[in-house]
Amino acid sequence: MSQFWSDIVNTLTPYVPGEQPQNRDYVKLNTNENPFGPSEKVFHAIDNFDRNLLKRYPDPEATKLRQSIADYYQMDLNQVFVGNGSDEVLAHSFFAFFKKNKPIAFPDITYSFYPVYANLYNIEAREFAVKDDFSIDIQSITQDCDGIILPNPNAPTSRYLELDKIKELLTLHSNKVVIVDEAYIDFGGESAVSLVNEFENLLVIQTFSKSRSLAGLRIGFAIGQAHLIEALQRVKNSFNSYPIDQLAIVAGQAAMQDVAYFKSCCEQVIQTRQWTHKQLESLGFECIESKANFILAKPLKHDAEKVYLDLKENGVLVRYFKNSKISDYLRISIDTQDNMKKLIDALTVIL
Ligand SMILES: Cc1ncc(COP(=O)(O)O)c(C=O)c1O
Repeated sequence: MSQFWSDIVNTLTPYVPGEQPQNRDYVKLNTNENPFGPSEKVFHAIDNFDRNLLKRYPDPEATKLRQSIADYYQMDLNQVFVGNGSDEVLAHSFFAFFKKNKPIAFPDITYSFYPVYANLYNIEAREFAVKDDFSIDIQSITQDCDGIILPNPNAPTSRYLELDKIKELLTLHSNKVVIVDEAYIDFGGESAVSLVNEFENLLVIQTFSKSRSLAGLRIGFAIGQAHLIEALQRVKNSFNSYPIDQLAIVAGQAAMQDVAYFKSCCEQVIQTRQWTHKQLESLGFECIESKANFILAKPLKHDAEKVYLDLKENGVLVRYFKNSKISDYLRISIDTQDNMKKLIDALTVIL
């Protein structure tokens, strides 16, 4: 607290990201990064980048990058918005679509940045309860709200809603914006982008941080009908004209175009996830069936926090959400097969 702070700063409870330890080389399974590096085509684009370009501001519309996303999804350019990580796209979306009179709705177990944005923009949040198995009952979502946001698959539960359920949600709430945050959709789910032209109230948000191995470059995007994208452009151009830098534009474009590499990375993550799921179960964990690049797992006979601390002691970092509805669980990112084997070996010793 300081006398120099604005009133709103005094009320903020900022988001706390997973640790990025600088002092020890962990087997890092705590922030759902992709273990496979970016595509060779990304390295090639960076190596051939004209460094003199850095004296110039980037294209404020990041047109080439947006075009590569539009091409991949067979959408029009004016249906694509890009931002500095999907966190920025999410923040602009809260401001563009949810800053209204009524509350917004999201699951009571979900991405912990949502309440933070709601708080930042002074938007009332109304949580709807996920079921005991963490699945979401679409019919239970309140009509008394001005917008809905949910990740699909949900994070950190990894629970996935089939496309017909998303359709049902969009139909039930056709008079408000529904945002589907698809940060993890490429690891086995079906994207709702295919519904964008049918539903004027749908905004799909994705990221380059997970399936495209570019968490360090900070690119996220939204796909929706042109009227929603225009709202995002208006917010962005009232905040920062150049959220995507020159290097991110060329590297992101290359990542988007290397479809074969992207698909093979996702496939490997899916296979390793299946292997890890089985191993964890045989070690006495209850695992939620995941369509993401992480597994939410509950040690049935041990205290989850103690397992998290013991793993850390043994050089393996997973995510533990203390004081939450999932404090009996660990969230474990899927890494290379070798690293997942190290996790299983460490757990075998610890347990
Ligand atoms: C559900 C969800 N949405 C969005 C993000 C943000 O991703 P980024 O800002 O790296 O694009 C994350 C990151 O972990 C996430 O879990």
